[in-house]
Amino acid sequence: MRLHTAVRWRTCPFPLVEAAVPREGRVLEVGCGHGLLSLFLALSGPARQVQGVDVDDAKVDAALEAAGRLGPSDAHVSFVTVAKGWLPEEPADAIVIADVLYLLAPGEQRRLLAACAGCLAPGGVLVIKEVATEPRWKFRWNQVQETLSTRVLGITEGGGGLHFVPPASMVGWLSDEDLDVESRPIDRGYPWPHHLLVARR
Ligand SMILES: C[S@@+](CC[C@H](N)C(=O)[O-])C[C@H]1O[C@@H](n2cnc3c(N)ncnc32)[C@H](O)[C@@H]1O
Repeated sequence: MRLHTAVRWRTCPFPLVEAAVPREGRVLEVGCGHGLLSLFLALSGPARQVQGVDVDDAKVDAALEAAGRLGPSDAHVSFVTVAKGWLPEEPADAIVIADVLYLLAPGEQRRLLAACAGCLAPGGVLVIKEVATEPRWKFRWNQVQETLSTRVLGITEGGGGLHFVPPASMVGWLSDEDLDVESRPIDRGYPWPHHLLVARR
């Protein structure tokens, strides 16, 4: 309960992302950062086997350190550093990508999503949390924040620029991979245009 309260006030509505992920099976989080979402998924679903991957070594180290503090019954989460351009190959029951795609050029985003779609087990689900480009005032506020984060403070690696693809375009890409897609805003109560895409095999 305390964990839910803590994440409620973080910038991304993690509980809504978590609710779209099956309660058991292999869960891959691409671009896990410091591991907050992967740890949340693991702690809220003891039958999930969660693996977080990220290109940032230092963030993965921090995630590993946090995971090392879990008790044995919660230790069903692991973290791995991957090279830039890495694409998933192992089968997964769920793949989660939260606030990562905008850091990749549109062609790379589409390639990553196609690779994720190809890894989904029958009945598997691809859960994507990004920010939409509407409403405009929320989008502009997000752009200011992300520009600070990537170009001024260097919190997030964003050397390739910021590429916010409208959710409708992503729905098209995912449909081309033969996935059934639900797309909905989850920005109520937040100044960011959070958006959730849930694509099922
Ligand atoms: C804004 S953070 C989001 C972290 C986490 N998903 C969350 O919601 O807390 C974006 C992360 O994506 C990672 N990233 C960027 N490009 C990546 C790629 N091609 N493959 C894996 N991770 C990537 C960055 O290193 C960074 O940790």
